[in-house]
Amino acid sequence: MDLFNSISRRKACRKYVAEPLSEIQLEEIETALNTFKPLYPDAPLSYRFASETKGVFHVKAPHYLVISGQGKKGEEENAGFIGQQLMLWLDSHELGGVWLGASKDATKERSNLDIIVLAFGKPEGSPHRAISEFKRKPISDITNSPDDECIKAVHLAPSGLNIQPWYLEKTKGKLLVYRQLLKPPMSLAYKLTRVDIGIALCHCAAACEHFGKPFRFHLGGNAEAKKGYEYYGYVDIVD
Ligand SMILES: Cc1cc2nc3c(=O)[nH]c(=O)nc-3n(C[C@H](O)[C@H](O)[C@H](O)COP(=O)(O)O)c2cc1C
Repeated sequence: MDLFNSISRRKACRKYVAEPLSEIQLEEIETALNTFKPLYPDAPLSYRFASETKGVFHVKAPHYLVISGQGKKGEEENAGFIGQQLMLWLDSHELGGVWLGASKDATKERSNLDIIVLAFGKPEGSPHRAISEFKRKPISDITNSPDDECIKAVHLAPSGLNIQPWYLEKTKGKLLVYRQLLKPPMSLAYKLTRVDIGIALCHCAAACEHFGKPFRFHLGGNAEAKKGYEYYGYVDIVD
């Protein structure tokens, strides 16, 4: 499914109609989740719906999805990569969603392996917005190649506190991906930049797919150090 069109029109929805979605809609969401490609197939995730979650910056919604892992490396990035495919899917089905980084399952199902919560449902008003309404850093702050269509898609990616903790450097044959290292006090308050990187790579993958280029991501490799960032990995550039 081409989720690309939703990249430039989705928004974090924070007001929902109080009525729940139908069983059929929830089953469709479950089916969609199981068809989304992971970033790392060896860091499997599980998903469960919850009716009650709590935390700071909480948003009341008819449904919540809790994403959990098994404690494996890469699962936070995977949660961002798969969860954002769901966010784009919701937008393409006229539904809304918002990531809730500080919320926890309020029921006895809660586990230490829970990674993140997403709220979703039928939004009050439209789940979409115009591209002019996105609030983002200037694209030149996050890349050396601002005209690249895949990088433009990353530029619109959501992140916790809208930090956009990524830098994308285009070199010969490789798109190098860097993760911003936050400094105190921000680093004490916000610890989800790996989820954000997964979200950014989801937008990159959706754009690559849309423009007929295979998306191949490699963790690690060699790259020049960048002050304030940690080199993370690279995407093959196919012209
Ligand atoms: C990992 C993560 C955690 C987030 N946590 C919250 C949250 O706890 N509460 C909230 O209202 N929004 C939360 N957001 C939504 C962001 O604030 C929002 O995506 C960002 O400001 C960009 O706005 P946009 O999604 O409308 O483009 C979170 C987003 C991400 C990616």
